[in-house]
Amino acid sequence: MKAKIAIDGPAGAGKSTVARAVAKELGLAYLDTGAMYRAITLAALRAGVDFNDSRALADLTESVELDIQIGSDGENIIFLNGENVSEEIREPEINSNVSYVARCPEVREIMVSKQQEIGRRGGVVMDGRDIGTKVMPEAEFKFFLTASLEERARRRLAELKAKGINLTLPQMIEEIRTRDKIDSERECSPLQAARDAIYLDTTEMTIEQVVKYIVDIVVDSK
Ligand code: CDP
Repeated sequence: MKAKIAIDGPAGAGKSTVARAVAKELGLAYLDTGAMYRAITLAALRAGVDFNDSRALADLTESVELDIQIGSDGENIIFLNGENVSEEIREPEINSNVSYVARCPEVREIMVSKQQEIGRRGGVVMDGRDIGTKVMPEAEFKFFLTASLEERARRRLAELKAKGINLTLPQMIEEIRTRDKIDSERECSPLQAARDAIYLDTTEMTIEQVVKYIVDIVVDSK
């Protein structure tokens, strides 16, 4: 199947888990575009680059080697200059800084062109913030997943807890609220549902229900 499926939405809406499961069920590739911005954020933190210095961020983005491989369960394995950083890019320090890097137009230009190169081949599910609006506006299936702020914070908290990272619910709510605000208010490709996206509030839904909902729409359209 050469379908292109775009899944966008705010932080913690379950996009990555859903997108990966949808891809697996439909035999498509999965690209986690957020992981790309996370990897650049890690590189910027390590290099001590000022997040307000767009030129330095762009130079850094151009100079690093970012490689994405698909794991046995369809997950993305992210290599930064040859080092597997898949775990490290999920840490709280990246969560709280990634939106400052992702709002830089020069960084986005480089990332979007890599993503479009992958999207052009088709047969892909991509999740992010601007997939339906900017990266693959031509995608035949576009979904915008959301959930209440508190539910999204709870889901993210549980994910981090499973990795031994303990934050409180108010801390998590604050982090997600701040990230959503920066992502939605930035000038370059802000978080926005495409006009032709199917909007889905997943607050009361399980991951399995969301996956089935999307897979059914794609399969029924064939
Ligand atoms: O998993 P979660 O929703 O928390 O975040 P993510 O998808 O890993 O994305 C991390 C951050 O990268 C977002 O908060 C955005 O600032 C940025 N991002 C973006 O700007 N555009 C994308 N297509 C994907 C992510």
